[in-house]
Amino acid sequence: MQSFPKVLECISDLSKDQIEKLIHSANRLKSGYVPVGSRNLGRKFTPIVATSFLENSTRTKHSFAIAIKKLGAMYIDFNADTSSLKKGENLEETLLTLHYQGVDLCIIRTSVSGELNQFKKDPPIAIINGGDGINEHPTQALLDLFTMFEEGIDINGKTMAIIGDCKHSRVGHSLTSLIPMFGGKIIFCGPKECLPEDIPANCEATTNVDEAILKSDVLYTLRIQKERHSQKAAYYDNYEEEFGVNLKRLQRLDKKIPVFHPGPVNIGVELDYETIKSDLYLGYKQVTNSVFMRMAILKAMLIDA
Ligand code: CP
Repeated sequence: MQSFPKVLECISDLSKDQIEKLIHSANRLKSGYVPVGSRNLGRKFTPIVATSFLENSTRTKHSFAIAIKKLGAMYIDFNADTSSLKKGENLEETLLTLHYQGVDLCIIRTSVSGELNQFKKDPPIAIINGGDGINEHPTQALLDLFTMFEEGIDINGKTMAIIGDCKHSRVGHSLTSLIPMFGGKIIFCGPKECLPEDIPANCEATTNVDEAILKSDVLYTLRIQKERHSQKAAYYDNYEEEFGVNLKRLQRLDKKIPVFHPGPVNIGVELDYETIKSDLYLGYKQVTNSVFMRMAILKAMLIDA
């Protein structure tokens, strides 16, 4: 049996069996299961978990913080801005310093795509990728799959439309690994400069949002990430009209299908206010479930490993 990775950088670090176990574990934790020895996670000393967010976050950072506290581990909010990273210390030395201070695991968000890959061979500390540049955001995709499971959506044989900047979205990239692993097909939809260059087998791409919606069982809308573009992209101004998912569009197409978004939503761009307040929208459930999926991942790395 494959052991749980010490560095969880991307979805392909996990087997399908490990992901199914995480979903089962998240489900048990949500229904009130308290892991044996959770006050100190079964160890002599309470494990210490740090978050190091070198990019802004509300959902990922705080859901990890809550998950750590619910498991009874000790939480350190490592502030990169006031750390010796600002004096030029590199990330490896920083992580080794945390390790020798007794930190067991560090959750890292970075703007540098693939930055955590260097630590896989000889990890200075256990690491979870909290989103790295445009590369991957594995824990987001895992909590999305857990939400689908909870909502009774079996993606096997079904189609998910991923709508937005599919090419540069780390969430989109993690879903692109995860959904086909569970038998789902993806339709990538967005402005042509936002469509992936390589379309995986059994998936397709379109610039026509109505077509994508009509062919899909689940919609996954992505945030327009203005902060990642140095210049205003040509598609910004007409995005809502051309690619926005709104109740009027869904009603016109006669589609009542679940709508996901990783957050934060640009309301009135990717989704309208009416959609996020409707029964179709699962964004708030994704947020709730993020705590339990992240507890399950921490448990797998700190207790079960
Ligand atoms: N979904 C997500 O990563 O949100 P935050 O940027 O708020 O963490």
